[in-house]
This record gives sequence, structure tokens and C-alpha cells, in this order.
Amino acid sequence: MIEVNMASLPERYWYGFYLTLLQNWGEAFLVAEADGRIVGYAMSRIEYTRDPVLLGLRNDMEGRSLIRRVAGVVEGLLSSPRKVGHLVSIAVLPGYRRRGIGSALLRETIRAVGEAYGAEALYLEVRVSNEPAIRLYEKFGFVKVRRITAYYADGEDAYVMVKRLEG
Ligand code: COA
Repeated sequence: MIEVNMASLPERYWYGFYLTLLQNWGEAFLVAEADGRIVGYAMSRIEYTRDPVLLGLRNDMEGRSLIRRVAGVVEGLLSSPRKVGHLVSIAVLPGYRRRGIGSALLRETIRAVGEAYGAEALYLEVRVSNEPAIRLYEKFGFVKVRRITAYYADGEDAYVMVKRLEG
């Protein structure tokens, strides 16, 4: 998995981080195998949040007045935390892309996070320039809900994308 990560993404995770995700949320810790080796992975964790944007209940990309935004923050603070899945990382080795492996990993992530862990939504961050990944997520019904300035270490912005899992 770490080899796939290093060949696919600039973001790195230390070994213990992989282990923590595996031990706590193993149903959503996935690898794809082909030709006798690991060629793709997806790993997620379950979090609790009051943020209606991460829950897919509100979209920050749609312009809203200051008063509505303040009302939204107050409403969020008064509500109880709710369970949400966070897709931390997904990647497929370059030579194995466009064969449906990323889709298979995402499909199973959605199932695990919704059915095995009972989360009501799944969210992720993606580089604003990462068209292949954004298209994959949109194909599965994820919606851009927030833009985070300079989210990545090299200064690139991220979109937060969310998919509701209920219904
Ligand atoms: N250009 C445009 N759309 C693309 C694309 C590309 N290069 N690659 C995938 N897509 C979209 C298409 O809609 C595609 O459906 P289609 O083939 O029917 O047109 C859909 O995604 C599913 O493709 P799939 O073959 O299932 O995905 P994949 O196995 O190629 O994996 C990624 C997709 C994003 C995981 C892979 O490109 C990757 O590992 N990228 C580097 C790591 C990364 O960016 N991870 C996401 C970080 S947030």
C-alpha cells in the first residue's frame, strides 16, 4: 500500500497511521490486487462532526449571506455530533488506471462506511486540479461543498466533496 501511495500521490502517511486506520476501521481499509500484487488501495476513518457541510446538509460553495452563515454556525454548535466517514486516501498504480479499479475501491468504501459503520455521509478532500479524481467522485454522486485555501503542503487548494449515504 505504501508503495502504491508513493507512486501515486505527494501526500505521505507514517506507518503507524496506516495501522491505526486498519485496526479501527478495517472494513474500510481496502486493497485491490492484480497480477499477484497490490495495485490500489482506499482507506477511511469514521469521525463525529457537527459541521453540516461535512454531513452533506449544506453547501458552502453556494454564496450565502453573512447572517445565514452565522446562523448556520450557531445551529451546528447547538446540535449533537453525527457520524461521518472520511475517505483519507485512494490511489491506483499508474499502469492499472482506467480499468475500473478506482471505482471498485470507492464502491466498497461507500458500502463499508454506510453499512458496516452506519455513517450518514462520506466526505473527502481533493486537489482542485485533480480532474481524474473529481470526475470519479462526481460519477459516484459526490458534490463539491467547500473550497479550502492552501490545504496542501505545496499551497494548492482543496475541494471538500461529500456524498450522503442515506436513502
Ligand atoms: N481523466 C478523466 N476522468 C478520469 C480519469 C482521467 N485520467 N481517470 C478516471 N476518470 C474518471 C472517469 O469518469 C472514469 O470513468 P470512465 O473510465 O468510464 O470514463 C472514472 O473516473 C472511473 O475510473 P476508474 O478506472 O474506476 O478509476 P482508476 O482506477 O483510474 O482510479 C484514481 C482513479 C483517481 C484513483 C487514479 O487516477 C489515481 O490513483 N490517481 C492518483 C491518486 C489520486 O489522485 N487519488 C485521489 C486523491 S484525492
